[in-house]
Amino acid sequence: MTDAKLIDGKAAADALRGRIAADVAALKQSHGVTPGLAVVLVGEDPASLIYVRSKSKQMTSCGMASFEHRRPESISQADLLTLIDDLNRDDAIHGILVQLPLPAHIDEHFVLNAVAPEKDVDGFHVLNAGRLAAGIGAMAPCTPLGCMALLEEELGDLSGLDAVVVGRSNIVGKPMATLLLHANCTVTIAHSRTRDLRAVCRRADILVAAAGKPELIRGDWIKSGATVIDVGIHRIATESGKSRLVGDVAFAESRAVAGAITPVPGGVGPMTIAMLLGNTLTAARRIAGLLSDT
Ligand code: GUN
Repeated sequence: MTDAKLIDGKAAADALRGRIAADVAALKQSHGVTPGLAVVLVGEDPASLIYVRSKSKQMTSCGMASFEHRRPESISQADLLTLIDDLNRDDAIHGILVQLPLPAHIDEHFVLNAVAPEKDVDGFHVLNAGRLAAGIGAMAPCTPLGCMALLEEELGDLSGLDAVVVGRSNIVGKPMATLLLHANCTVTIAHSRTRDLRAVCRRADILVAAAGKPELIRGDWIKSGATVIDVGIHRIATESGKSRLVGDVAFAESRAVAGAITPVPGGVGPMTIAMLLGNTLTAARRIAGLLSDT
């Protein structure tokens, strides 16, 4: 059996950004609207700093405006809510992203639900989560949207396929399962309490790994020819004292069995940011009254 096809998330993200840049230019010309994203970053988490910088760079490269609001780790919840309220009222801002994780003294759910739902480009507001579940015009979270775009590009119509999502977070697992269900897959959500996870995974035509555990999914957990989407990204130490990035899937042994698989890095990661740009454009169009859906 030959190795699985590599699903090139970087190429897909580049192509998507090209389409978004063209749409942004058209929106500016026709309505004088420049989509603007505000990114709120609390504290100095190094990974968050890298993400935020990358988001800002890609926003501006697509012709959109990006505003960074950095606040110290010690900010009070009340002051953070005041900032969000200001951004909710600011007409130059169409999308608001509060970078996670937040410090422990801040109630994450309370803060995320303070973002105006129409500016919630992360799709984390409970109203958007509910709309997504009900299938009515929601702003969906960026990582699951990116996974769906890769799957649809790879497989076309997903109707009737058996999809297994490993992980049940509000950010990835649950919305991913919902999007797959809307695409007419037969969906199983597996998690840390699932009995015989290997047997459940082996049923999957589509396997989405979002468990947050390095190399949890082994090659012999994968059905021959399955499409494998790896959402995980972890830096692990190697025997030589160096480090390398791995996903939730043991890549080499899984590639020998799967039909197609995303690499880490270069798979899902680039698509997440491209989808954030897409959601910001959608929010700007909606706020300008250019979209008829809710
Ligand atoms: N931190 C890690 N991933 C994400 C994400 O997708 N959105 C936000 N807001 N924070 C994150």
